[in-house]
Amino acid sequence: MRTTIRLVAGFEKWHFSGRGVEAAAAPANSPDMEKALIIGSSGAIGTAMSEALVTRGVAVTGLSRRDHGLDVTDEASVDHHLGGLDGPFDMIFVATGALEVDGQGPEKSLRDVTARNLQDQFLVNCVGPALVLRHAPRLLPRDRRCVFAALSARVGSIGDNGFGGWYAYRTAKAALNQMLHTGAIELSRRHSESICVALHPGTVVSPLTEKYLGNHPAVPPEEAATNLLHVIDGLMPEDTGRFFDWQGERVPW
Ligand SMILES: NC(=O)c1ccc[n+]([C@@H]2O[C@H](COP(=O)([O-])OP(=O)(O)OC[C@H]3O[C@@H](n4cnc5c(N)ncnc54)[C@H](OP(=O)(O)O)[C@@H]3O)[C@@H](O)[C@H]2O)c1
Repeated sequence: MRTTIRLVAGFEKWHFSGRGVEAAAAPANSPDMEKALIIGSSGAIGTAMSEALVTRGVAVTGLSRRDHGLDVTDEASVDHHLGGLDGPFDMIFVATGALEVDGQGPEKSLRDVTARNLQDQFLVNCVGPALVLRHAPRLLPRDRRCVFAALSARVGSIGDNGFGGWYAYRTAKAALNQMLHTGAIELSRRHSESICVALHPGTVVSPLTEKYLGNHPAVPPEEAATNLLHVIDGLMPEDTGRFFDWQGERVPW
């Protein structure tokens, strides 16, 4: 049973958050996790996931654009920040993403589709996590269970798309899903216990959704992180390459 919170540079905020240093242990049946890397630790879900892991006693390394200058759309920036990290990490969790870039929100109609928005969405929602995934072979352990999880979105599912609209965001997330599925196949060759998955967090209250929620029910990021961690806990290497929602249900591609 792990009861010590180990903090690393950049995570002092949890040390002073009033939660105290006595951490709640991970659930008894959860797999061992000592070190985790959170990309996008400044976001609502990234912050909540980092906190949840720290509370479990996991040593969390968080990287973000706001706090560390990591721009996931810039290959040199990703290589600079991730190339200097010492692994291995039992989990790499990618919580970056955007629904709006430069004020361009999701399209309601084909009339609204622009090359610029398609490119911007592809960069942030697919290229970014893909550049992080490029570092996974070096950062994940080869001798034990490890997880690479990136936040996708159910709206990236082609099979589940009954409403239309949101062209660029949907398309970029669908591309991310293919990237993760393909990366999972390669990773599993040399990391036989690796699990590389796309996750849908549910509808979560966050800066990303604040203009779009309307009356749609949404959960706080802390609840989303708890849900996702529960799903991650239950994943096995045979689940690699798949797309799961916050309840652990498979989402159709
Ligand atoms: N919220 C939901 O209901 C929902 C539903 C489905 C899927 N998702 C997915 O979940 C993920 C996280 O969403 P969230 O709700 O937590 O949103 P959020 O609070 O707005 O967080 C977005 C995160 O992405 C980072 N980011 C954006 N562009 C970046 C870039 N170029 N380089 C580095 N970091 C960048 C932001 O960094 P800075 O703030 O440091 O700039 C922030 O950490 C996204 O991929 C989103 O598509 C969310």
